[in-house]
Amino acid sequence: MFGIDILGTGIYTPSIRVTNDDMAKIVDTNDEWISTRTGIKSRNLTDGEPTWKMGAEAAKQALENAGIDGSEVGLIIDTTVTSDFMTPSVACLIQREIGAANAAAFDLNAACSGFVYALDTAKRFLQTDDNLKYVLVVANETLSNFVDFSDRSSCILFGDGAAAAVVTRSEKLFASFLGADGKGSVALYAKNAPVYHPFRKTEKNLMETNEFAAGTTKLIQDGKEVYKFATKALPEAASRAAEKVGLDISEIDWFIPHQANIRIIETAAKNIGVSMDKFIVNIENHGNTSSASIPIALHEAIAEGKIKKGEKICLVGFGAGLTMGAVIMEY
Ligand code: UT7
Repeated sequence: MFGIDILGTGIYTPSIRVTNDDMAKIVDTNDEWISTRTGIKSRNLTDGEPTWKMGAEAAKQALENAGIDGSEVGLIIDTTVTSDFMTPSVACLIQREIGAANAAAFDLNAACSGFVYALDTAKRFLQTDDNLKYVLVVANETLSNFVDFSDRSSCILFGDGAAAAVVTRSEKLFASFLGADGKGSVALYAKNAPVYHPFRKTEKNLMETNEFAAGTTKLIQDGKEVYKFATKALPEAASRAAEKVGLDISEIDWFIPHQANIRIIETAAKNIGVSMDKFIVNIENHGNTSSASIPIALHEAIAEGKIKKGEKICLVGFGAGLTMGAVIMEY
């Protein structure tokens, strides 16, 4: 089977640790509500370091752990939804920072499913380009850039952070399923500010004539809708990936789900008939870091010696779009 091997991972955790008690100082909330409804105890926020910088630090660590020099990387895929620039891509800024002069570079936006989408994309590039040896996948998010810190139902959920992985081709098990439901785009979004060029005739902000909320570029979320989608999407994506290679869900050693809400993970585990013991969970310390959440959890589980070489892992995500995806592979 054509598969991929993860040669090394790295993470970057920004310096400002914000506890639930800290959150209670800025919105009407408390540790008890946040802990029981989400499983989150604290999250880390940037002190101004840009998204690309966090990604570059995680990438350097991943390269070091993989024993690869930046110049050997042939492709960088960055999964951010919080790019520092409209252009260039964050992937190009990371390429510059880590000296990956021989790498093509682009960003891929699949929100919180981004890392899963990027692993699948990396595998396809490796499969079709014999000259490509190493792909660097970077997931870096500064959600504090567009979180509305006056909205208690969403601001308590999110954190900033970055993770990276160096992958190469292998003959190990690999299966993936990627999906999207654009009808759900209204459930979770953040708009760009409207732009009026000098020749424009319409003064109305056309973005605000449809169902997307007016007058804000902050994150808007229908928590209940996303919750409903997530508890179905996680089991569905994992099952559909497993089906492709005739694998029974019970044969998977570890599930590394998107870290959005402990209750979503528990419900999904129940729906798929798998014990929570097989789920890697670190939401308590990081909150929801969008596309960075799965690779941060992966890196920590590897560092703690939980996930061992040869074990079957299922990385499974869902997010804005709405998107969902799962990759099943042998570590
Ligand atoms: O990457 C994907 C990102 N998004 C998600 O994964 C979000 C998925 N959704 C969720 O995780 C949950 O829906 C939330 C955590 C956002 C909300 O939890 P919930 O159990 O669905 O709460 P709720 O929206 O039903 O609100 C229950 C009550 C409301 O008060 P009333 O109307 O019952 O008086 C809210 O106003 O809790 C209130 N509330 C809060 N109270 C204290 C909402 N946020 C807070 C808060 N602190 N932070």
